[in-house]
Amino acid sequence: MIEKYSPQDIAAAQQKVGAKVYKPTDEQSAIISIASNPLEPAVVIAGAGSGKTETMAARVIYLVANGFARPDQILGLTFTRKAAGELAIRIRTRLRQLRAAKLIPEDTPLEVAVTTYHSYAARLLSEHSIRFGIDADIQPMGDAAMWQLANDIVRNWEDASYSNESAVGTVVEDLLGLTKLMLEHQVSPEDIAAADNEVLEQLAQMYGATNP
Ligand SMILES: Nc1ncnc2c1ncn2[C@@H]1O[C@H](COP(=O)(O)OP(=O)(O)O)[C@@H](O)[C@H]1O
Ligand SMILES: [Mg+2]
Repeated sequence: MIEKYSPQDIAAAQQKVGAKVYKPTDEQSAIISIASNPLEPAVVIAGAGSGKTETMAARVIYLVANGFARPDQILGLTFTRKAAGELAIRIRTRLRQLRAAKLIPEDTPLEVAVTTYHSYAARLLSEHSIRFGIDADIQPMGDAAMWQLANDIVRNWEDASYSNESAVGTVVEDLLGLTKLMLEHQVSPEDIAAADNEVLEQLAQMYGATNP
């Protein structure tokens, strides 16, 4: 397949039908069309506010306009719901403009799946858990259930050697924060304890050095 429309062509066609889209910069244009003919993996690393979301949306439009991919073959994943919402809106708006500019057929379905890693993973789990021998009804714990459990653990903690001057609510929040980080980084309680002990040892040495 050959490229029918360049990233610049597409932006120009969309502007012609009154769409408020930016002309991509040369750097953005290169990324929008990279590794698309044939489709190959590519990674783009750029700082906050540098135009990543804009570029991702334009890339989707570019792939669809040139027939390199259909909207239903595209999956957009982001870390936060806010980012997923933003990307979904930009893509949907642009696809409609692409249709208005007659760059894609009138009957092209415009639905692109854009979601967060977490909710996509939850969907995969519920759709395919049976293949891995996991109960199909299993539900990942929601925030409320996690809070409830953490709250119970903290309030009923019996080990008297543990003391903490923070409010109970703060300890619950800390426990939840640590749990999420441990799950994301696949670290065990033993790993954390070992790392803590190392720091404590170093601190003890420093203390020993200044206070002989
Ligand atoms: N080619 C461009 N011309 C003008 N403004 C742009 C262009 N690309 C992005 N922007 C604007 O720059 C801002 C940051 O872009 P965004 O894609 O949200 O960045 P990121 O996702 O990297 O944080 C947005 O307001 C966006 O509309
Ligand atoms: Mg962004």
